[in-house]
Amino acid sequence: HGSAEVNQNGELMIGGVSTVDLAKQYGTPLYIYDTALIRERAKGFKETFKELGVKAEVAYASKAFSCMAIFQLMKEEGLSLDVVSGGELYTALKAQFPSERIHFNGNNKSRSELITAIENKVGCIVVDNFHELRLLSEITAEKKRKMKVLLRVTPGIEAHTHDYILTGQEDSKFGFDLQNGQAEKAVKLSLESEYIELIGLHCHIGSQIFETTGFILAARKMIEKAAEWQTAYGFTPDVINLGGGFGIRYTQEDDPIPPSQYVKEMILAVKEEVSRRGMEMPEIWIEPGRSLVGDAGTSLYTIGSSKEVPGIRKYLAVDGGMSDNIRPALYRAKYEALIANKADAAPEDTVSIAGKCCESGDMLIWDLPLPIAEAGDLLAVFCTGAYGYSMANNYNRLPRPPVVFVENGKAKLVIRRETYQDLAALDEYLT
Ligand code: LLP
Repeated sequence: HGSAEVNQNGELMIGGVSTVDLAKQYGTPLYIYDTALIRERAKGFKETFKELGVKAEVAYASKAFSCMAIFQLMKEEGLSLDVVSGGELYTALKAQFPSERIHFNGNNKSRSELITAIENKVGCIVVDNFHELRLLSEITAEKKRKMKVLLRVTPGIEAHTHDYILTGQEDSKFGFDLQNGQAEKAVKLSLESEYIELIGLHCHIGSQIFETTGFILAARKMIEKAAEWQTAYGFTPDVINLGGGFGIRYTQEDDPIPPSQYVKEMILAVKEEVSRRGMEMPEIWIEPGRSLVGDAGTSLYTIGSSKEVPGIRKYLAVDGGMSDNIRPALYRAKYEALIANKADAAPEDTVSIAGKCCESGDMLIWDLPLPIAEAGDLLAVFCTGAYGYSMANNYNRLPRPPVVFVENGKAKLVIRRETYQDLAALDEYLT
C-alpha cells in the first residue's frame, strides 16, 4: 500500500515515519496521508495529458478530502479544484488557491454561494439545472460580471458501481438530460444570456468505476450532441469535462486499471468523434477525487475491547468507527488492515473489527486475517484517504480525529483533533 514499509522493529512506516511514533505523538484515531503518493498521482494525470498533447485541466474533486493543506498541496502540483459548496469554496480561498482555477459544481447552489463565487472570480461554474441558470443569469446581469459556464449534462450512461454513487444514468438528480431536449434548451438559454459565457459541457458518470466503457460512451455522446448544436446554434465547446470516478484498489479483490488508461481512452474517443465531424479538438477536463487521495490515506486506531462468540466470530473493537469512516456502514465498503506495531507478523487469526459507536452496523471490517492482537495494539486501515475524513461526523459525540501529512520522514499536523469543547461549542444552555 503506497510507500508503506516495515522497519526493523516490525513497525509500519508511512512516508518514512513510524506509525507507532505517530500514534504516540498525535494519539488515535488518526488519519495519516502519504503526500508523496498524492503528488505522484497528480503528476501522473498531468503527464498523461502532456504526452498526448491535449490541453487539459485536472481539477481535484475536493469532496474526497478537503482542508487547507490539501488545497495548498494541489496548488503546488498545478491542479485545479472542483468545489461543491460555499464551505469548500471558503476553505479553498482561505488556502489562497488561485480562484481562476476553481470550478464550482453542485446540484443546488444557493444564491449566496453563487454570489460568493462570482465576487471571487472563480474560473467557471458548472450549471446543473434551469433554476440555477436563471439565478446565475440574474446575478451576473445585476453585477454586470461575465461568468464562464459549463453545462452539466446527464448522458444516460449506467456505470457499474454502488447505486448511491452512480450519477450519470437517466434517472438522476444531477444535470440536464442529454436525450430529451433539456440540455439543448439549456444551451440555447445560455447562449442568449448576456453575461453567461458558455465554454463547454460537463458530465460525471459515477464513482469507483473499473471500466473505461462508460467514459468512452459519455465522451462520444457529448461530442455527438455538440456537433448538432454547432450546426443549429453555432456553439462549439472549448471544453469537455468528463468528471471523475476512476476506481482504486481497496482490497486484493479489486482490479483497477491505471488512471492514465482512462484518460488515454477517453481522449481517443473524443479525438475520433471530433475528427469524424470536422470539429476542433476541445480541451479535456477531468475531476478525480478518490484516485488522487484514496490510497494515500491510512487510518490508525488503538485496539481496545474484544468479544468472542464461541464457534462463530471474534470481535475486536477500535477507538473509532463509523464516525471517522462511514463507508463500510453506508456502502458495505471493504478495506484491508494490519497490526501496525506487528506489521511483519503472519496472520494467525480471523477477527472482525468493530467501531465504538452504539449500533450493530458500526463494523469496519468483517473477517480480517490478523496476527494475534490484544488491547493496546495499533490497527492500520489502508486506503481511507477519500471520503473518509470528509464524511466523518460526530455521532455519539465522538471528536473527529486529527490528520497528519507525512513525507520524507517528516510529519506535519494539518487538522488538529477535535476537542470536547469544540463539540459543545455550538450548544446553548436551555436555562
Ligand atoms: N465530479 C463530480 C461532479 C462528482 O460528483 C464526483 C464525485 C467527482 C467528480 C469525484 O469522483 P471520484 O473521482 O472521487 O470518484 N462518498 C462516496 C463517493 C461519492 C462521489 C460523489 N461524486 C464514497 O465514499 O464512495
